[in-house]
Amino acid sequence: MDYKTLAHKAVEAKANALPPYSNFKVGAALLTTDGDVYPGCNIENSTYGLTMCAERTAIFKAISEGKRKFKAIAIASDSPDYITPCGACRQIIYDLCGEIDIICTNGNEDYKIFKTSELLPLAFGDKDLKK
Ligand code: THU
Repeated sequence: MDYKTLAHKAVEAKANALPPYSNFKVGAALLTTDGDVYPGCNIENSTYGLTMCAERTAIFKAISEGKRKFKAIAIASDSPDYITPCGACRQIIYDLCGEIDIICTNGNEDYKIFKTSELLPLAFGDKDLKK
């Protein structure tokens, strides 16, 4: 699947977002190496801190369905600016998806592509626990 299509799937996933507190809707679309797409949206709750971002929703859905190898994740919001993943999601992408393409869209569905290592340099991870 091309990244323009994946970006559009992130836009579509945004329609299901549930952000009653921030009113900031986010959608994500995670592409597996075998070509499947797992959409996700942000989901907030009354305690605020238990908010689930769109990226993590998509990743946890895919992992729970047995998927382990990923190629890219696209992210979309209603902001005119390019949206990039929060710090928590960068760590989860690093740990569970590895070095993938992160497709950051703006309000026109233009996108910029970053590698995981660009957005989370010098990451702590699995390798550090095995020393
Ligand atoms: N959010 C995401 O879902 N993904 C991001 O990349 C940035 C932030 C959500 C979390 C919260 O529900 C709302 O956007 C405002 O931070």
